[in-house]
Amino acid sequence: MIGLARIGILISGRGSNMIALADAVRAGRVPNAQVAVVISDQPDAAGLARAKERGIETLVVERRGRKRAEHDREIIAALNERNIDLVCLAGYMRVLSSEFIEAFRGRILNIHPSLLPSFPGLDAQQQALEHEVKWTGCTVHFVDETLDGGPIIAQRAVPVSDDDTVESLSARILEQEHELYSEAVALVLNNNHRD
Ligand code: GRF
Repeated sequence: MIGLARIGILISGRGSNMIALADAVRAGRVPNAQVAVVISDQPDAAGLARAKERGIETLVVERRGRKRAEHDREIIAALNERNIDLVCLAGYMRVLSSEFIEAFRGRILNIHPSLLPSFPGLDAQQQALEHEVKWTGCTVHFVDETLDGGPIIAQRAVPVSDDDTVESLSARILEQEHELYSEAVALVLNNNHRD
């Protein structure tokens, strides 16, 4: 990749991973990159205001009762208009259409709060507690047509304690997520650069 890699981040809510990634980019921990846009499918996503505070362009693309493919087409167009090279899902709560995946094949990343392939889908921390695992963690992976099943880029392990609740475990995992996402993005961009 020549020049600055333009990153687009998709969120639906709080956006703490988006902020951690944007701050890492700004601090130079993800070389040769810039966060060009943050897109939310939810108009009231808390992360939108936090991105704006940082001077990042934000955009809301609501579903408005449309089918997934049609909604995704609007997002794809917005990403293409801004020449986005890499799409990072950060708490984006919608499954992508095959059209979206095809449009950015190998250039969409997601962060998930478990050591995949364990506990894909919703409530990963709850699933970990139910299984009484002693270790869980977080994973950054490429997005393909499978649910949380694409090739794994990076992982961090996190211990589970006997008295953990979903809240306490989620908070411990989230701390690691915030460091892992930017490391994984740097890794991916660096590999593309060498190709
Ligand atoms: C994170 O736990 C992430 O792994 C999962 O959704 C949560 C989003 O949190 N996909 P935030 O919006 O980044 O704060």
